[in-house]
Amino acid sequence: MSDLGSVAWPPEPIRTKRLVLRTSEARDRAAYIELLSSAEVHAYLGGPHPRDVLEREMPETPASRPGSFVVELDGAMIGHVELKRATERRLPAALGKAEIGYLFLPHAWGHGYAAEACEAVLDWLDGVLPGEPVVLTTQTANAGSMRLAAKLGFTEVERFEAWDAEQWLGMRAPATSA
Ligand SMILES: CC(C)(COP(=O)(O)OP(=O)(O)OC[C@H]1O[C@@H](n2cnc3c(N)ncnc32)[C@H](O)[C@@H]1OP(=O)(O)O)[C@@H](O)C(=O)NCCC(=O)NCCS
Repeated sequence: MSDLGSVAWPPEPIRTKRLVLRTSEARDRAAYIELLSSAEVHAYLGGPHPRDVLEREMPETPASRPGSFVVELDGAMIGHVELKRATERRLPAALGKAEIGYLFLPHAWGHGYAAEACEAVLDWLDGVLPGEPVVLTTQTANAGSMRLAAKLGFTEVERFEAWDAEQWLGMRAPATSA
């Protein structure tokens, strides 16, 4: 995947009912290391990244690309939501489209925070790039992610085998003005 493209960045922090979505800062580094080295978080993502490599190589301000949001609850980072351009050549239906990805720390699962954060990020995209469809890929075995995708309005485009598992490609039609 590559950068989202020409959007004004960084945006003002986005406030939802319970969360703040903002660009990353140096103080998020420890939470990013936690997120990327967690075996539980990466159970359906090909396995965790080695913590020592992350400690060594992660930039001082992690994940600072346009389209990349830290999700904060009560002042602490609980997850990451990002939008990028899909570059997977095996998926012509997705190639070049905006693609959403999400990772939350396990202690924050099961509260609806991921849905709340992703809805806000998709609303933000509708505002800055109106008419953009969004795609999402996830393993079909990742039940929480499949439920989240449906909740966010993604519908199936195709299933395919990759990375030794069945994958699901979903798409969300662009918002239409009333
Ligand atoms: C995928 C992932 C983000 C889903 O997180 P999640 O917390 O289950 O997702 P949601 O925000 O939609 O929360 C849903 C749950 O919160 C519950 N919930 C509790 N309080 C709630 C509230 N106030 N509002 C809404 N839902 C609430 C819902 O009942 C639901 O439970 P259920 O899934 O058992 O039915 C999370 O499992 C994760 O980070 N996994 C690892 C990374 C990963 O696999 N990412 C996918 C990459 S493609």
